[in-house]
Amino acid sequence: MAVLPLFLNVLAEQQAALERPVDAPPAPLPVPNPTKSYWIDTAGANPLAKEGSDGQLTADADIAIIGSGISGVSTAFHIARLLAEEGSTERPLEVVILEARDFCSGATGRNGGHLTANFFNEFTVYSALFGVEDAKRAIALEQRTVSEIIKLVEAADKDAELDLVSGGRVHLLFTEPEVVEAKADYEAAKAADLDLSEVEFLTEEQIEQEYGASYPAVRTPGHNIWPLKLVTHLYKLAKETGANSSTMSLHLHTNTPVTAISSTSSGSSRRWNLTTPRGPVSASYVLHATNAYASHLLPQMRGPSGIVPTRGQIIATRAAAPETVLTKAAFTGNEGFEYWFPRPLESGQTRPLVILGGGRESTKPDFELYVADDSRVNPKVGETLRKFLPAVFPGRYEEGAEPEMEWVGPVIDPANPDAYKGQYISAGFTGHGMPRTFSWSVIHGLSLEAPAMLTPPHSAEAVAQMIVADLQGKEWSIPEWLPHHHLTKNRINE
Ligand SMILES: Cc1cc2nc3c(=O)[nH]c(=O)nc-3n(C[C@H](O)[C@H](O)[C@H](O)COP(=O)(O)OP(=O)(O)OC[C@H]3O[C@@H](n4cnc5c(N)ncnc54)[C@H](O)[C@@H]3O)c2cc1C
Ligand SMILES: *[C@@H]1O[C@H](CO)[C@@H](O)[C@H](O)[C@H]1NC(C)=O
Ligand SMILES: *[C@@H]1O[C@H](CO)[C@@H](O)[C@H](O)[C@H]1NC(C)=O
Repeated sequence: MAVLPLFLNVLAEQQAALERPVDAPPAPLPVPNPTKSYWIDTAGANPLAKEGSDGQLTADADIAIIGSGISGVSTAFHIARLLAEEGSTERPLEVVILEARDFCSGATGRNGGHLTANFFNEFTVYSALFGVEDAKRAIALEQRTVSEIIKLVEAADKDAELDLVSGGRVHLLFTEPEVVEAKADYEAAKAADLDLSEVEFLTEEQIEQEYGASYPAVRTPGHNIWPLKLVTHLYKLAKETGANSSTMSLHLHTNTPVTAISSTSSGSSRRWNLTTPRGPVSASYVLHATNAYASHLLPQMRGPSGIVPTRGQIIATRAAAPETVLTKAAFTGNEGFEYWFPRPLESGQTRPLVILGGGRESTKPDFELYVADDSRVNPKVGETLRKFLPAVFPGRYEEGAEPEMEWVGPVIDPANPDAYKGQYISAGFTGHGMPRTFSWSVIHGLSLEAPAMLTPPHSAEAVAQMIVADLQGKEWSIPEWLPHHHLTKNRINE
């Protein structure tokens, strides 16, 4: 194993930084001038960017969803699907999505694009915290979520359009402690009867031969996708499903930040009054799908026991080797701090553009925690990212090459509960093997763990069920697939 130009084995140090008491102010609103992301700022990629940003505002709704990332849009999608299946609303339900900036311009539009379930990572920690059964459910849930997303994309024949690639996931183990931990987690998962038939441990020599990096690794099935295009597809499905079944009418207003929420004045049939610069919106149910910015509207969620905004940084860099040599595999390494994969080739290209995220550990002990500003990149993180691939894959990346694009996005961390009737939150978790505390929170809802992009969709499904059940005056009961520790109610009682 060659020595790498970065901090290794610092996950525990990050965890300590996360738990440090800090008198953090509530998160700001999203800044108006974010860095340009490959996913968002490629021409034609965001047809809904300015949707509903002018004209008349939807001032009255049954359900108001704040945030148009994968959480908010998946919830709309699941509500539409539930209502269409039941087919029994007296009138179409009015659902509005309010987005502070352009459509899907938060973490979902700026992330690493990996869509991969865990098979056994962290199994020991999960089991110790929540018991073996719930640890198993958590793994099963990730696999269910990934397979549902893939089914949905394939059913619509959209794999190519959404750049869904199933090239496997190779998790490089740079240090001996990482090898020891991976083996312990694997053994624990095996003892708990998890299906590990698709997991392979590969030696340094095998990895060298297949991928050109001399580290041992774990290989599992894995995928990557163009996240904004997936969410755009989900939005269209939600809108059409609601319209075709006449059960839901979906509205989207971008560039419409919610700046405050108060109770409606007496006499109103709605519970909540949302303030926006374009006028008030009243709603019976409110879903906070605001991720890193949650504590702006819910200040009790600031600080280490709430949601900690954390800035993640990505570069898009051209490889020096062709696709045939690089393969289509997606990689993670360094306890998940770094993650990368080659984009599918576009016509005329011979060397893939590689999307690489990570480098936060180079800012330790800060780790970019409590940074929600995605308008500027961190040069120190950028330096680590630029050195990373040439060091891990000698000869396959040009040393000193400048990336074609570099951007940041706000991810989040754990949270703490409270209860507001009719307000729900669906907040994801950073993913990538980050922290090991599991105190996700939610307000009468849920939030789930890594990998985060997976998180929101299944969190969204459960939140959608809760809202629809409450609307119809029915009891909601926990679905078999949902790990019990993901439910805030259970967490409050812990
Ligand atoms: C750099 C980076 C790399 C990542 N890599 C991966 C990866 O490879 N795989 C993976 O699975 N996950 C990854 N993640 C995590 C994943 O992107 C997130 O967990 C997921 O996108 C969160 O979705 P969301 O809908 O909850 O949040 P977001 O996509 O952040 O959406 C929240 C939205 O709410 C809006 N908003 C906030 N406040 C308000 C308000 N007051 N009024 C109106 N709108 C508001 C924001 O503008 C934003 O659009 C990464 C994240 C980042 C930042
Ligand atoms: C809605 O109906 C239209 C017209 O029949 C159809 O083309 C479309 O596929 C339907 N969409 C969904 C999501 O069912
Ligand atoms: C919502 O708040 C605005 C601004 O304070 C107010 O004008 C409006 O009447 C309120 N609407 C309801 C339904 O309470």
